[in-house]
Amino acid sequence: MINIAVFASGSGSNFEAVVRAERNGNIDGNVKLLVTDNANAFVIERAAPYNIPVYSFNPKLFDSKEAFERKILNKLEEYGIELIVLAGYMRLIGPTLLSHYEGRILNIHPSLLPAFPGLDAVGQAHDAKVKVTGVTVHFVDHGMDTGPIITQEAVKIDERDSKEEVQRRIQRIEHSLYPATIQFVIEKLKRSGG
Ligand code: GAR
Repeated sequence: MINIAVFASGSGSNFEAVVRAERNGNIDGNVKLLVTDNANAFVIERAAPYNIPVYSFNPKLFDSKEAFERKILNKLEEYGIELIVLAGYMRLIGPTLLSHYEGRILNIHPSLLPAFPGLDAVGQAHDAKVKVTGVTVHFVDHGMDTGPIITQEAVKIDERDSKEEVQRRIQRIEHSLYPATIQFVIEKLKRSGG
């Protein structure tokens, strides 16, 4: 079984979707740890009923990204983490974590990348009046919402749709696409020897 850490900064609906899939046997791994940079994030409450330990840190109390990522790395090693899943973690991953987990960090983004990277991708797509947007799961590299794409799913936007409606549709897709993609990556990792 592959040991997974989920990183999240906010509500954590994707965190919960991943944990549920793991508990239902649809992800061949163990979600061992939640890492958050926000002590007030609702995701912390979501972790409690599943008894998932939380490592919460305040980036402002560190001198540099390298310093807090070294702390995170210690935690990941303590829990034997082999795969990192970013689920609304609103920070760039730095070289400290990237160099240890190359090809083992996934991110989900609410657009069809490379369109609409960065903050409020759903709002960006809605404002641009595109007819199609969607969800992307990709491997993480040093950039913002860049890195090799693994899966994508499209969502149509009707001109009468509010941003909130598009958001709801996108999130529904995220909650099935992310667990399925995580399982796909785990199977690939297993075939390549771990
Ligand atoms: C998700 O929609 C995810 O795609 C997005 O943050 C949201 C987190 O929701 N991530 C990004 O925009 C990354 N650039 P959640 O906290 O309910 O899972």
